[in-house]
Amino acid sequence: MLRSLFFAAAGSARLERLVESAPASLGIVRRFVAGDDGEEALRVARELADDGLAVSLVHLGEGTETTAQAQAVRDEYVALLGRLRHAGLTPAAEVSVKLSALGQRIDEKMAYENARAICAAAADAGTTVTLDAEDHSTTDATLETLLELRRDFPATGAVLQAYLRRTEGDCRELSTAGSRVRLCKGAYAEPESVAYQSALDVDKSYVRCLNILMSGEGYPMVATHDPRLIAIAEDRARWFDRSTGEYEFQLLYGVRQEEQARLAAGGHAVRVYLPYGTQWYGYLMRRLAERPGKVTLLAQALSSR
Ligand code: FDA
Repeated sequence: MLRSLFFAAAGSARLERLVESAPASLGIVRRFVAGDDGEEALRVARELADDGLAVSLVHLGEGTETTAQAQAVRDEYVALLGRLRHAGLTPAAEVSVKLSALGQRIDEKMAYENARAICAAAADAGTTVTLDAEDHSTTDATLETLLELRRDFPATGAVLQAYLRRTEGDCRELSTAGSRVRLCKGAYAEPESVAYQSALDVDKSYVRCLNILMSGEGYPMVATHDPRLIAIAEDRARWFDRSTGEYEFQLLYGVRQEEQARLAAGGHAVRVYLPYGTQWYGYLMRRLAERPGKVTLLAQALSSR
């Protein structure tokens, strides 16, 4: 119930203005978001690197409505990649990109061209790009763009969402040599026709997908905070004889930091998904939807206006 409320809130422009203007919102935001600009994100990326954690930086913003906005997002990523290279943070730091932010809803070809420019800048910087997964209506277009990009930039990463019924099939398709695949549960409100609805069914699907990826030839990126799934992934890595460098764990910035440290200390490669930027509202609502118990945090922030 609370989860659906947060999904509804994610689409409400009125609530967005209210939350953004509440001074105490910033406290919650800073827990999950590195900062407003690339400089602050770089500082946090360096701190994480000092702790032995790789990062995937993401510039927040999904509401791109014009060609100019899409190009600005592209330029932001290209500039960021240059700065990461100069700061000596690549190849450990890569970037994650949402095709919607690059104009996918306006013109798929333009989004592809923008993503291509970012992949080229990443290649120059000696690092990689991963294409985030968004709601199910974009999955086909995103995977098509991925295949196109991989012709010239074979290390471009895919994201597959275990809650989608189609994902086992996609895991089989993408479980090939050199293929980087991030497996997550999925963060959008999806209908029963395309997605498992119960947590148990999503978890079971996650394990089936994990088995395919870990036994396949690609590079699995295990993106979850779920202790049970992390333990299963550790087990599968041993079972399929994968050594460090042949898979990685990924967790969100601000979530289960002690687990991030434990995994890194245990010899696993760990990457932190590190968002930055001023358009944090949709991202924050999805994080709160995952932990509805945190609703009090938001209520306190709003009542302190
Ligand atoms: P879930 O939220 O079901 O939590 C399971 C258990 O994990 C909890 O019961 C608790 O034990 C523990 N846990 C979770 N959060 C915790 C917290 N804050 N503190 C303490 N314990 C906690 N989604 C998407 O649709 N497209 C994408 O591209 C991505 N990309 C992405 C990258 C990375 C690196 C991650 C980690 C996640 C994504 N996601 C995503 C989000 C993903 O789909 C999913 O919504 C969240 O990861 C939450 O699911 P979990 O697997 O963490 O389990």
